[in-house]
Amino acid sequence: MKVLRTPREMHAFREELRASVATVGLVPTMGYLHEGHNSLLRAARRENDVVVMSLFVNPTQFRAGEDLGSYPRDEKRDLAIAEGSGVDFVYAPEPGDIYPGGFATKVEVEGLTEVLCGSETSRGPGHFAGVTTIVCKLLNAVDPDVAYFGQKDAQQATVIRRMAEDLEFRTRIVILPTVRERDGLAMSSRNAYLSPEARKRATAIWSSLLETESVFDTRGLEAALQAGRQKLESAGITPEYFEARYPGTLDAADGNSGDPILVAVAADVDGTRLIDNILIEPSNPRSKS
Ligand code: PAF
Repeated sequence: MKVLRTPREMHAFREELRASVATVGLVPTMGYLHEGHNSLLRAARRENDVVVMSLFVNPTQFRAGEDLGSYPRDEKRDLAIAEGSGVDFVYAPEPGDIYPGGFATKVEVEGLTEVLCGSETSRGPGHFAGVTTIVCKLLNAVDPDVAYFGQKDAQQATVIRRMAEDLEFRTRIVILPTVRERDGLAMSSRNAYLSPEARKRATAIWSSLLETESVFDTRGLEAALQAGRQKLESAGITPEYFEARYPGTLDAADGNSGDPILVAVAADVDGTRLIDNILIEPSNPRSKS
């Protein structure tokens, strides 16, 4: 496994690969790898000749006052995991190489980025501008045939798909299911912040989504959302949002069309912001999340 530290090195390797390699898969990460990342790496390994993993805690997707400074980092451990998962190249640039002095470009997807995590009462649309700008740079640098992302960040997935289509990237965007702990908590690097007590309470996030799914079938969407919110609140967690949206457009869902509904939640559990979601199929209410 080779570690590439600068965009220049990445570009040079990509040019070398072009002559000899059929397909390249990219797994973009901010490190502190867990089983969710591993599932993306395994898929990339199965489906491509060469696997590139990027490892970059992207400063521009953090709002002032968020956890950029304390975001968990352990490069040595990440490199060992990547190597064990069969990664060929790790692209791990420094912020100064990605955003050198004079850097002035932003890639923004409108509309989709103004709801849920993008609303002003949440992380704000600037969060997604940070995500799409870095993903755009990574797709340009690595030029992968396929790029893999997780369904846990459902809104991010929708936004990245939109960007890739609008900007005519030839990379296929693949979204893989959320990987969960045994008790249902969605895997996230931020779970490392949770105290044992908060970790236990955080399981209410997934139970509240399951509750929403089960009530939806018999009592409809409004009652289902109310039941889900109540379940969360009974665990002492007040959601930042708990909303039903159509997954492709992120328009508010009314539950009457028979189309799949994304129920997405963000909540602060003792100072740790967690997100999760469930995709409810009205004709078949078992979760696909
Ligand atoms: O999902 C993440 O880890 C990040 O948002 C991503 C896609 C690597 C961009 O920094």
